Amino acid sequence: MNILITGGLGFIGTNLALSLQKVNQHNVRILDNLSPQIHGVIPAVDARILGLANVEIVRGDVCDQAALKTVLNGIDAVVHLAAETGTAQSMYQISHYNNVNSQATAQLLDLLANTPHSVKKIVLASSRSIYGEGAYECKNHGTVYPAARSAAQLKNHQWDPVCPQCGNSITSIATPEAARPSPASIYAATKYAQEDLIRIAGDSLGIGTAILRFQNVYGAGQSLNNPYTGILSIFSTRIRRGMSLPIFEDGQESRDFVHVSDVVRAIELALLNEAANGGTFNVGAGEPTSVLEIANMLVDAFEGKIRPVVTGQYRLGDIRHCYADLSEIRSKLKFEPQISLKQGIEEFANWVLSQPLPEDGLDKANEELKKRKMMS
Ligand SMILES: NC(=O)c1ccc[n+]([C@@H]2O[C@H](COP(=O)([O-])OP(=O)(O)OC[C@H]3O[C@@H](n4cnc5c(N)ncnc54)[C@H](O)[C@@H]3O)[C@@H](O)[C@H]2O)c1
Ligand SMILES: [Zn+2]
Repeated sequence: MNILITGGLGFIGTNLALSLQKVNQHNVRILDNLSPQIHGVIPAVDARILGLANVEIVRGDVCDQAALKTVLNGIDAVVHLAAETGTAQSMYQISHYNNVNSQATAQLLDLLANTPHSVKKIVLASSRSIYGEGAYECKNHGTVYPAARSAAQLKNHQWDPVCPQCGNSITSIATPEAARPSPASIYAATKYAQEDLIRIAGDSLGIGTAILRFQNVYGAGQSLNNPYTGILSIFSTRIRRGMSLPIFEDGQESRDFVHVSDVVRAIELALLNEAANGGTFNVGAGEPTSVLEIANMLVDAFEGKIRPVVTGQYRLGDIRHCYADLSEIRSKLKFEPQISLKQGIEEFANWVLSQPLPEDGLDKANEELKKRKMMS
């Protein structure tokens, strides 16, 4: 197959391209604008992706419809990864996020609707952020989906959401795809818009689609420069610099950390399997890990000396808990995560140590949020 990966020089795209060309011997074409926020002002890319016979790299912007049209030539399937990915940053770069994420997807679909092409499949990288808070269990009301925590709740350090019906305490459970989407950031809203655009247009154009909602993806190759995403990157830099790790809330907020090689396998299953067509699938490890726990694991992996510090600070729009219910992808695509968090974090730390030491961008990013009253 001839596969176009938009954003293919990024973290997930590079790992996917390497796997597709090697294991499955597909031809890969990458469209990527080498965004300076990810790749630096003098752009750096993962050297493993360069000089491969069946990987073609085109520098271009997904917002440029002429560039998109050119790279679609001869393509059988598209994996659409190009996106701006900073949740907090999206709250003050609203039209930019909308352009790169939603509008560029619409332009891609316009080309598929109005010009001759050979595309038979589109796989979209969506995000667990479209759920907002994950699913919870109330003793009285069963499965419930609490609203985002209000500014007043956070101010009072009431970290845990409560039952929307009786106000009692609730327990986080695995979130299924059927959960009601409730995007709480512009980033999440644009990812949800991408889902609808691709699902609806794909259906009407007779193109197979698969939508994958990734949890927190980590592993070798993730951007260590982008201060707006990825706590593992931010924390690694601080540990290497001997700086403390400030942990928001009480540290018990949790995320589902999934290794990039598991995510690559999920994309390949969705791409190459007819059973995925028309489907929406969670992709995660299927287990929650608290932020305090992952911070401690990282300190251990780097043999750091300074333990994380719980600060009680918080960011508006952060969720408390969300982890993936994997029933759907297990049953339809036979997907099973394979890398344990311990193994994955050790491998990640070894890779980080082989990389140049970036500047710490956390304090600056947080200052920006405080100035905009999005963090206290
Ligand atoms: N990494 C995660 O934890 C995670 C979680 C959920 C969803 N996702 C989604 O997965 C996808 C890939 O994420 P990633 O972690 O590899 O991100 P990344 O930032 O490492 O890679 C994104 C790539 O897209 C490129 N890009 C950005 N804007 C572009 C544009 N206008 N035109 C062309 N290329 C552009 C960047 O240069 C970069 O190489 C994104 O759509 C993201 O929303 C990622
Ligand atoms: Zn209740």
